[in-house]
Parts: sequence; C-alpha cells; structure tokens
Amino acid sequence: MLSFNNEDLCIENVRLFDIAVKYGTSVYIYSKSQIIKNFTNYKNALKNKEGLVCFACKANSNASILRSIAKLGAGADVTSGGEIYRCLHAGFEPSKIVYAGVGKTSEEIEYALKNNIFMFNVESFEELDLIDKISEKIGVKAKISFRINICIDLETHDYIITSKKGTKFGILYEDALKAYLYAKKKKNIVIAGIHSHIGSQILNINSFKLAAQKIKSIVTEVEKNGVELQYINYGGGLGVKYEKSQKVPAVKDLISELLAAFDLNKNKKFIFEPGRSMIANAGYLLVKVIYKKISGGKKFLIVDAGMNDLVRPALYNAYHDIIPIKKINTKKVKTEIVGPICETGDFIGKDRMIPDAVDQGDYLLITCAGAYGASMSSQYNSRPLIAEVLIDMDKDTLIRKRAGYSDLLLNEL
Ligand code: LLP
Repeated sequence: MLSFNNEDLCIENVRLFDIAVKYGTSVYIYSKSQIIKNFTNYKNALKNKEGLVCFACKANSNASILRSIAKLGAGADVTSGGEIYRCLHAGFEPSKIVYAGVGKTSEEIEYALKNNIFMFNVESFEELDLIDKISEKIGVKAKISFRINICIDLETHDYIITSKKGTKFGILYEDALKAYLYAKKKKNIVIAGIHSHIGSQILNINSFKLAAQKIKSIVTEVEKNGVELQYINYGGGLGVKYEKSQKVPAVKDLISELLAAFDLNKNKKFIFEPGRSMIANAGYLLVKVIYKKISGGKKFLIVDAGMNDLVRPALYNAYHDIIPIKKINTKKVKTEIVGPICETGDFIGKDRMIPDAVDQGDYLLITCAGAYGASMSSQYNSRPLIAEVLIDMDKDTLIRKRAGYSDLLLNEL
C-alpha cells in the first residue's frame, strides 16, 4: 500500500526515508495489510465452497510473514523438509500442509510423515514406492495426490513453465491412470486427489481454463476406473502486475473459472497454492544509490543491493518498477540501475527513465519484490543477508536482523 505523504513515499503510514535511517539499506519491507488483502481475495472467492488456500512458502519464507499468514487460517504448500520445519514453527496446522517436489529424500518423507502433514503431491512412481515403504516402516498411512504434468503451453518465462513435456515435473497425463491404479494396490497409501501446477506468473486466464478442462478429463477417466479423487489441487501460478501495462486476472474470476469445471454438488474439495499473488505486491526492496557514473554513453546508478539480494532480473530478465522515495520533478533520463556484484548480469533495471537529479545517497524503491526476493537471496560475493521489516499501519517491526560479517563464517570449519 504505497502512497505519497506530501513529498515522501510511504508504505501504509510509515515514511520510507525513516525506514532507511532506522534500519539501513538495502532492506526488504512488507505491508501487512496488503498480505491480509491478498489472502482475503482468495478466501472470499471460495466463499461457501470447500477449499483450502495453501501459501506456497517458497515465495517468501520469513518466519514472521509465515506466522501472519498462518494466523489468517491459511495452509502451506511446501517443497522441502526445511519448509515443513519453517511452517510448523510458524504455526501452520500440519493437517493443512501439502508437499510437492521432484526430489523428496527418505529423510524428508519420514519427517513429513512423522509430523502428520496433510498430503504428498507425488511426482513419480519411484517416489510413491519410497513413501509406501517408509510409511510401512513407521506404521502410518500416507495421503497422496499425484502431481500430473498436463502438458499445456504457457506464455511466461521458460524457467517457470512446469507443465511442458520434457520438464522434470510430475507424472505425464498419459500415465495418470496407470499411476492411480498402481497406487491403489499399495497398502500404506491413501489416494486423496490430483495436483497440477502449470507454471508461474501466468496472466492469461485461458491457460487456467484449459488446465481445468484437462484435469477434469483425467479425474473422469480415473474415477471411471474405480478410484475416487476427492481433492482437486490446482497449484498456484497467478501472475501479478510488475509493469503498468500488464493486465492481471482477478482472483475471484480465476477461482470461479477453476471451480466451474467441476460439478460442485459432487462433494469435491479444492486446493490452491498461490505464492506470488499472495506476497509479491506486499513487498519492496529499498536501496541507496552509492555512485552515479557515466560510462560508454550510459548513465549508471550503482545501488547497495545486488543480484544476491534480488536475483529475478538477472535470472529471468524480470522487470521490477524502480521509483525514488521523494517526489522529484526534474526531467527523466535513461538510466541503468545496477548492483555492486562482479557480474555484468548484476542489474536491477535496464533503460529506466529515472529523474536526472537522483544522486549519490538518495534512495530508490524496487516494487513488487515480496515474492521470490528475500527467499531466493544468497551471500554471493560474501554479502551478508539483508534486514527485513514488516509495516502494520504506523508501526514498523524488524522481522529479520541484518547479518554481519561473522555470519558469513557460520558453519565453516
Ligand atoms: N505450487 C507449486 C508446486 C509450485 O512449484 C509453485 C511455484 C507454486 C505453487 C506457487 O506458484 P506462484 O503462485 O508463486 O506462481 N522463482 C520464480 C518463480 C518460481 C515458481 C516455482 N513454483 C520467480 O521468481 O519468478
């Protein structure tokens, strides 16, 4: 929730300049009311229908953020033992945790079973065998869905399409029936439903419609063969508005499209795993300009966050809006916003129109950075992990301390 108070940019009621002075930069900042709003959009869209919203915590796994989301009644979509640990610690009910991932290890499976998570989204026959074996060993039954790769084309970055033939994800739709019949014979497996996550940053609602139809046809075929699928898990994937020109489907329209594929009287239950659309627009990265530099006919602003803090531009050529935190009315000039890391790929924005007057010591805000920002950050170039702050109305709370140099050596012998 970004707005100007006179000349100063604020998140909720807090001036960003004050945050910079109090906590230093670079720093991730989140708006609590935006998180609540994003979750409420999903919750309201599901009104009167059986559904569970499981936050894909890979998008943001900060303990305080997870605690805020757990308190709203959300479930969690996890992808590793570490994420199960974080979610339990944050107070998510185990019975609302769903676990996908192509490479679940024996240790992770055992940890998930011992903690009574809701279900596994199983990605191969081999994984099913292992879950069955471990369940037998510890004397429990494992609830599963198969993650089905429904092979549909998407308009998004290649790296975040998960439903293409030839990707590592899930079981190919043509093998779905075989998988369910195989699972039916396993003594320690309880078949609960079907899962499909087609990709991320999807802006075309037709891709979801197509997915729903494909899933429906698989469910029909499997149920005809005597296996009931109670839970339909549509995964996540809804895009957000990184650029002003982008049009984003409303959550309520998306959910109603996805529900419409099924006869709602048939007692089906639906699961959604939003990550980005829950947290991206609630998060920002505040940075300081360290140097202004002209080189090769280009103007550079070198800032104090690099690709280790926000890797999305370097990895996916992703766009994030960049704005000064004070109103500046000078003419705008083409500017490269880059980090301090020793790689040409270390940029935050290319060819951006930034007011010419922005200078050394000024602050810039990188928007829509709440998803896959902090959670994908690293210490590359031995840069300690940065601080995170949560804003709730006029209160700001430190939710992750800025690491120091000694943290860089933690666990090194
Ligand atoms: N469920 C599963 C099984 C997933 O693999 C993912 C994301 C989600 C749900 C949540 O998808 P979302 O609603 O966030 O689109 N690092 C990339 C995005 C990778 C997404 C991976 N899977 C980025 O920064 O764009």
